[in-house]
Amino acid sequence: MCGIFAYLNYCVPRTRKEIFETLVKGLQRLEYRGYDSAGIAVDGDKNTTTDGINNNNIVLIKKKGKVKALDEELYKKDCMDLEVELDTHFGMAHTRWATHGEPSALNSHPHRSDKNNEFVVIHNGIITNYKELKKYLNSKGYEFESKTDTEVIPKLIKYVYDNREREDLSFSTLVERVIQQLEGAFALMFKSRYFPGEAVATRRGSPLLIGVRSKYELSAEHIPIQYNTAMFKEGVQEKNSHNRPDISNAVNSVEDGKAVEYYFASDASAIIEHTNKVIYLEDDDIAAVVGGKLSLHRLNRLAGEVPVRAIQTLQMELQEIMKGNFEAFMQKEIFEQPESVFNTMRGRICFDTNKVILGGLEDHLKEIKRCRRLIMIGCGTSFHAAVATRQVLEELTELPVMVELASDFLDRNTPVFRDDVCFYISQSGETADTLMALRYCKDRGALTVGVTNTVGSSISRDTDCGVHINAGPEIGVASTKAYTSQFVALIMFGLMMSEDRISLQTRRLEIINGLRILPELIKKVLTLDKNIKSIADELYEQRSLLVMGRGFNYATCLEGALKIKEIPYMHSEGILAGELKHGPLALIDKHMPVIMIIMRDACYTKCQNALQQVTARSGRPIILCCQDDPEVSKNAYKTIELPQTVDCLQGILSVIPLQLLSFHLAVLRGYDVDCPRNLAKSVTVE
Ligand code: F6R
Repeated sequence: MCGIFAYLNYCVPRTRKEIFETLVKGLQRLEYRGYDSAGIAVDGDKNTTTDGINNNNIVLIKKKGKVKALDEELYKKDCMDLEVELDTHFGMAHTRWATHGEPSALNSHPHRSDKNNEFVVIHNGIITNYKELKKYLNSKGYEFESKTDTEVIPKLIKYVYDNREREDLSFSTLVERVIQQLEGAFALMFKSRYFPGEAVATRRGSPLLIGVRSKYELSAEHIPIQYNTAMFKEGVQEKNSHNRPDISNAVNSVEDGKAVEYYFASDASAIIEHTNKVIYLEDDDIAAVVGGKLSLHRLNRLAGEVPVRAIQTLQMELQEIMKGNFEAFMQKEIFEQPESVFNTMRGRICFDTNKVILGGLEDHLKEIKRCRRLIMIGCGTSFHAAVATRQVLEELTELPVMVELASDFLDRNTPVFRDDVCFYISQSGETADTLMALRYCKDRGALTVGVTNTVGSSISRDTDCGVHINAGPEIGVASTKAYTSQFVALIMFGLMMSEDRISLQTRRLEIINGLRILPELIKKVLTLDKNIKSIADELYEQRSLLVMGRGFNYATCLEGALKIKEIPYMHSEGILAGELKHGPLALIDKHMPVIMIIMRDACYTKCQNALQQVTARSGRPIILCCQDDPEVSKNAYKTIELPQTVDCLQGILSVIPLQLLSFHLAVLRGYDVDCPRNLAKSVTVE
């Protein structure tokens, strides 16, 4: 959902071409977050005029389409000397996923305050009060050129700047005054011709982190934060507590004039190739780089808040975010699943003692055991992980388990109590609906637990405790390995809860043994890729595809159908086989492609009945079943035979053929697997 990348080199000479390359590469790493248009803001040449300004001018280059189109556009600007060396420079770039205003060069970011590009802004998120702000700014004579909510921000900062009277306001103070007026969610970067070589970044509800690279030792492990209490409302302008940021304790307290580079990005995958030292900004933090030094401020100190931000070391490796020999990130991530589920379990299950320890939950385990019910909340694939594990969690925790789509949960104003435990399942840890559901439950006093794949994400920080699924960066827009790792993490939670239940020990042992060999079984399923491709060859021209199953495999039907919708753009429905005769059976005839999941578990006989109902209507089902099941095979048009495992883990194996099928269907239909139309990873708007 929009990607922000910015680069500031201080006393590190870089040619303009190198700066372009850094910005474009950063955007390419973030392209999965949005790819309908892209743009950059850089300094122009001192002697060239852009829009009539020839002093500290800022040049905006924007293009509809993917980052590649922007990249080509950059080299068409013959007014820009590519070989010129810039000792200190701040450039920023953005890749967009449209929310307000169609994809076009005009609506793409950066947005500007005026024709002279005095202030330019890039934004990820949504400004909910933009209409009121726009009306106000219109009344003050500001003219808007785009249809976006974002454009109010550069106009507003110019308004504050133009009305500063005699105050000597720093860039970060101007930004601080602007964000006091904004409602909604945002990560923002600002550049201004009045503050050359300076950068200001801020966030509320959307992620933003800063990478720092310097050949000098960073002098601090923590960056102190200054608190500002300034008020700025129409008619009420109080003097700020500071006009110039105090940079005496700034992150890079190497002497002035020493080289340092800063990278600002929506996520760590764009930073890791430059540095592993990062600072995650928190809501209402304002980060400013002045004279090569980074300092942090925030509007107000929160009760109990520790006034520092740690400089963290990223554990991610560059190769984790590269495609390697695969055609697409989605394909790579499907094939990574033997390792990703192993990493979810690593160090957490002791196969000798059958103990499961999730360090992030240990301190809250007693409280969780005493709760009234568990509520599992997520969206899309993450919601399906909750559906997939609900039954086994009910069994192992002996608690009622509700599974909730975050948006619906909020629409219903669902009653939540202090003795509820609420889980937020989210790969990105930034999904707006899930995050809002988290805030809703927190306000009602429930204990909150995050299950995320992104260290430092809003959900992992805002929850009381949590589990990191350790699946590694997921770049493909279609979630694959995060699903299987969420699945495993939730089952491990159930195992941890049931450790002292004597009556559940045999079941626990069975599941733990199943987990032990799970990576090997996943590898076996992946060897079916060729068969699945041949099934895709038969199906790719179809309009529709139904996926049916029940019990432990119902979630696979939902998740498989979602994959088939979002990547090959085929209509697909996940159908609970128990509901077949209550309606969906009417769809069945010899033309309708149907996939049925029939595993040897407690629902086996009932699934066989559903199979009879389908074949009796001339249906020709492709059946996902256990190896050596002649009873099922004889009624199948085709079979995909999977290794059998413990019933509650079977869904991890049965989803993989559908992930592969979705990938092959999309390739055969000629679509870009990693950039499905209209979608973006990390949906940070409601
Ligand atoms: C589907 C998919 C989405 C996400 C959903 C929630 O392949 O990726 O349905 O699962 O947008 O995202 P997270 O898990 O980041 O909260």
